[in-house]
Amino acid sequence: MTTAVYPGSFDPITFGHLDVIGRAATVFDRLTVGVLTNPRKSAIASLDDRITVIREAIADELPDVAQRIDVAGFDGLTVDFALEIGAGFIVRGLRAVSDFESELQMAHTNRKLAPAVDTVFFMTALEHAYLSSSLVKEIALFGGDVSRMVPAAVLRRLGDGAGRTIER
Ligand code: PNS
Repeated sequence: MTTAVYPGSFDPITFGHLDVIGRAATVFDRLTVGVLTNPRKSAIASLDDRITVIREAIADELPDVAQRIDVAGFDGLTVDFALEIGAGFIVRGLRAVSDFESELQMAHTNRKLAPAVDTVFFMTALEHAYLSSSLVKEIALFGGDVSRMVPAAVLRRLGDGAGRTIER
């Protein structure tokens, strides 16, 4: 059985993340979405909220593969989490060439730390290649429309950091 982990901050999860999750779930027998407990970037949502929203988004948007996907929080190194859950692969999305350098560095470093864990990249679908959680947060903060960037679960549950609910 092939098991992979898709690690990230997911603050919030976007349609770009969901595209990668859906495609990875058709390649691997099991996929765990690993939600980093303490992202370096300031998180607008707690770990529990992010996990709940990701689970709802997967149930809503990826019903055909949802039963093969777990969502769990983790702290510390991604490779340690991968080894702990028996994942042989780390999944990451590449949106553009600009992602490549930092992702290459992470993939090589992770392989140095844990040679048994390899990284597999999915090219994020072109229609989502411009998306980033940071931009979504900024747009939402200023009251902009993010309904075509994030799933309904995010719109329903996440506040915008100022105590207001993001409106559709
Ligand atoms: O969604 P992000 O913020 O792009 O995800 C980055 C993430 C979580 C994959 C990366 O920061 C990470 O793996 N953090 C855990 C700590 C770790 O393993 N650091 C060494 C990476 S070589």
